[in-house]
Amino acid sequence: MYTVILLLIFSYLFGSIPFGLIISKTFYKIDLREHGSGNVGTTNTFRILGKKAGIVVLVLDLLKGAIPVWVALLVSTDVDFPVIIFGVVAAIGHVYSIFLKFKGGKAVATGGGALLAAAPIIFLVVLVTFLVTLKVSKYVSLGSVFAAISLLISVFFTGDPFIIGFGIILGIMVIVKHISNMQRIKEGTEPKITFM
Ligand code: G3P
Repeated sequence: MYTVILLLIFSYLFGSIPFGLIISKTFYKIDLREHGSGNVGTTNTFRILGKKAGIVVLVLDLLKGAIPVWVALLVSTDVDFPVIIFGVVAAIGHVYSIFLKFKGGKAVATGGGALLAAAPIIFLVVLVTFLVTLKVSKYVSLGSVFAAISLLISVFFTGDPFIIGFGIILGIMVIVKHISNMQRIKEGTEPKITFM
């Protein structure tokens, strides 16, 4: 039980690390929250700081979701252990970061990392949905929302109550965090990507 509590605390604190903000402040001397969408996640890093920083933050944010799951798998001797919990708690840390007064990103990359480590087939379904939507619409945010919808649907095919429960929490969190993006798409002010 103590191990689980320690792992939960580790997952939340690790997920809370705002890599986008740390990189923007350390290497570019700007506060990502004051530029673009104001988000501290991967998309706004690409938008404001460019490809190099964007890829670094993407990898780090994916790892924030995946590492807690891998650590839990390593320390757990219980094969039925619902390790997805730790990835989703990391995604919650990313969105409600203790280091940013409980503000943060939109859980897409960190949630993706959690799925990659805990439910790789669902990760693939979600990734393909994201990429197809992005290719067709050119909106990252719409890709994220469709990916979240595909997550909400695909978790039910696993029959695993933990994957279903935590998939629902993650999917709803991503959709709620994108309400402002959907509003901007409606108003025609959401930026499109230009490279795909
Ligand atoms: O990953 C977040 C993305 O879907 C939207 O980001 O910065 O355009 O709000 P942003």
